[in-house]
Amino acid sequence: MATQPQPQPQPLGDAASVSANIQSAWVVLGEDNQAIARAITSYSAPLPASGSADPNASCPLLTVDGKASRMTLRVAAGTVPLRTTASAPADSKPSSFPVNVCEAKLPAGAATASVAGQKLPLPKAEPQRILVLADTGCRLKKADNAYQPCSDGTAWPFAALATTAAGFNPDLVLHIGDYHYRENACPDDIAGCKGSPWGYGWDTWQADLFKPAAPLLAKAPWIMVRGNHEECARAGQGWYRFLDTRPYASATSCDNPADDNTANYSEPYAVTLGSESQVIVFDTAKVGKAALKTTDAQFQVYRKQLQSVAAMAGKTGMSTTIFTNHHPILAFAPVAGANPAPGNLAMQSVMTDLNGTAYYPTGVQVALHGHVHDFQAINFASTHPATIVSGNGGDNLDVALPDPLPAGILPAPGTTLDKITHHSSFGFMLMERRASPAKGWLFKSYTVAGKLLTTCTQTGSSLACDKSGFVAP
Ligand SMILES: [Fe+2]
Repeated sequence: MATQPQPQPQPLGDAASVSANIQSAWVVLGEDNQAIARAITSYSAPLPASGSADPNASCPLLTVDGKASRMTLRVAAGTVPLRTTASAPADSKPSSFPVNVCEAKLPAGAATASVAGQKLPLPKAEPQRILVLADTGCRLKKADNAYQPCSDGTAWPFAALATTAAGFNPDLVLHIGDYHYRENACPDDIAGCKGSPWGYGWDTWQADLFKPAAPLLAKAPWIMVRGNHEECARAGQGWYRFLDTRPYASATSCDNPADDNTANYSEPYAVTLGSESQVIVFDTAKVGKAALKTTDAQFQVYRKQLQSVAAMAGKTGMSTTIFTNHHPILAFAPVAGANPAPGNLAMQSVMTDLNGTAYYPTGVQVALHGHVHDFQAINFASTHPATIVSGNGGDNLDVALPDPLPAGILPAPGTTLDKITHHSSFGFMLMERRASPAKGWLFKSYTVAGKLLTTCTQTGSSLACDKSGFVAP
């Protein structure tokens, strides 16, 4: 008698966990130091023949300390109808996201975690080395006639930068905003960017961030700050799908312009860096350039959020509180052929209302920013926080600041400059915790190739750099 075919065992592999489907998997730190695993997958589970579909069926399994469980769907693949953008309608298009975004909270103290065979980096109790970068994407912007050669690794060096930076083995990465720059189509006659994806969908996010940053996403958990390029009329939809650390909600998705007055202002939060140090993350995505009237709705939003910052900065036991937002507040913006512009007047106006010319609340020792595409390290003779700009991560650089700075040039009224150290070469910064019993951090600025340009030693709100003025690469 012929043997009947036996039922075959189910494939060992989980269809949603096939590694080829996973476009990126990383860990981001949110409020209360919650580590969140995220995965972007091109897999979509087939609908069941009967019964209701499991909403998480497209998500891969996350294995934590040997135990596998399915990640939760954060937001499903889809194409968002065209909304008003920063560009003319003719230069815009609906944002296509043909990928599902999945997530899972990681338990504190987890020793190992992996998705689809890819090991995830986990937070350290006492991080020693924090890699800082900002303004990393490749600029394609019709209004400015700016078409950076995205396919030229020297003119847009983010991939090389991320590889070098990963080689420094950071415990944590801090990105201070502006991940996405490919807003408009590259004209056919410009060879350096020809064929680049453009607009605000997945393909541009993949090209500007997830692909080039892969070595650094694999190396350490990230803290992600929002830049003006991630405001709702620009890459805000991708910001909320992929990077924002709070639960996804349609009202804060940037999909509907009617919600922009909420979605452009995410609430600040603090992340502790082991003992005695913390970072306060602040969203200035939509801040303008001019001082705000007290009656302005934006003034009121920021005022309230800065009151929360004051409460966070008052946390006991902290010797270094680092305030981080995208736009420099007490630093400069170089202007070709003219004196440099001061820090952001809108933020200064709100901070003056709360704290006078101290600007920052008590308890903030360091301020970290991007937005200006250079490196600046400023020590004040007045009692203002040490201020560092590290916005040289890949987008077109700004011109160098004048050296020396013209007399009387200040980032804000009421400040007194002691020293400024600056350069305008592509690169990143590494924060290293100072050896005990010293408190505070070393802030080291590197080129893309990993050459150390300057080391600044922070003690409280003072910063002593080993070089001053312009530093040649
Ligand atoms: Fe910016």
